[in-house]
Amino acid sequence: MTKLLSEEAKDDLLHRGYSRRQLAGIATVFGVGMLAASRGTPAFASAGHPDAAPSAKVRIGANECWTGPLAPGQAAAAAMIASSNRYSPHDEHGDFRRTVSAIEGVPADYVAPWPGSSDPLSRSVVSYCSPTRGLVTADPTFELAGRTAEWLGAPVARVPLTKDYTHDVKAMLAANPNAGLYYICTPNNPTGSVTPLADIEWLVANKPAGSMVLVDEAYTHFADVPTASYLAAAGKDVIVMRTFSKIFGMAGMRMGYIMARPDVLTKMMRYDGGMQSGALPLPSLACATASLTAKDLIAARREEMRANRAIAFEALKKHKLTYVPTNANMFMIDWKTKPAKDMQVAFRGKSVEIGRSWPIWPTVSRVTVGSKDDMIAFSAALDAIMS
Ligand SMILES: Cc1ncc(COP(=O)(O)O)c(C=O)c1O
Repeated sequence: MTKLLSEEAKDDLLHRGYSRRQLAGIATVFGVGMLAASRGTPAFASAGHPDAAPSAKVRIGANECWTGPLAPGQAAAAAMIASSNRYSPHDEHGDFRRTVSAIEGVPADYVAPWPGSSDPLSRSVVSYCSPTRGLVTADPTFELAGRTAEWLGAPVARVPLTKDYTHDVKAMLAANPNAGLYYICTPNNPTGSVTPLADIEWLVANKPAGSMVLVDEAYTHFADVPTASYLAAAGKDVIVMRTFSKIFGMAGMRMGYIMARPDVLTKMMRYDGGMQSGALPLPSLACATASLTAKDLIAARREEMRANRAIAFEALKKHKLTYVPTNANMFMIDWKTKPAKDMQVAFRGKSVEIGRSWPIWPTVSRVTVGSKDDMIAFSAALDAIMS
């Protein structure tokens, strides 16, 4: 297994306190294709991705978009297939970087595309955490960073959200003042809550030297809030991460990107020589580039999500159920006395696949906002289950 790692990568890992035995685990995480192919690796253990062919008629459990890529993206991807005999017919990687640069205000060489964001998320943990410099994450939040750190043998501190469901950045720093990576998911999965940029700035200003702040903005377009990309553009110790798996409807096309200083990008490429970032399928890359600039279509999809979400909220109100205030395409229902696992089974009985719960809140279920029809079906299933 460790043959997959370069000598430079091995030296770096051993220098940071990993044992030779642990190198095999790292090679498994980043061996080409292994991350996606093996059920034993952190991505599948934690991402909560549903079975490949779920039988439910209504699928509102995995925070996917209810519909496919935006029309200009679909057209660009379809057109690209005819030119895909070339590795790079027209510098598609450059087009992507320049497009992100224009929209986000970061230099083009601060942008790296990836096949989704699970890879750079795990890779950030490998690049900045070690047995002596742990990870600090929130609870509840998207678990992939925490599970990757545990997999690698790096200590993990899980810090409860504030009473407003934002990341408690002061408590996060206090939980490990010498961590290698601080993970902020905003809007947060599963709560949909937004952590103020002022709090992120505070963490960046006060964190220990040599550490990184990873800001995961997977759901940012659903919330329409200011991004942290200006911190990356200013050369701070910040990685801003995006995915096309959410509002852009491209979960199966596998596209994401990060924004960070070039030296950070180089460090993150160290474990595979840039293979994952450099070997993206061109139709996915073209689809992403064309989608990014479709401002009006993005806004329209956000409005559609909000209208659909309102249908579900009406149904919850009718049954006097409370939910966590959300800014994204997901909401958390508190069943109070009923275990979330049992409610998931009850919905499954109505062919509605809702989301899972988190151990810290065992009576709370995450539900993804789907299409209008999905939300009407969810409401009908809720009525039947509650009666
Ligand atoms: C917060 C967050 N980050 C990252 C991901 C990874 O998604 P992908 O690998 O499809 O980009 C997800 C997926 O659900 C997520 O919720």
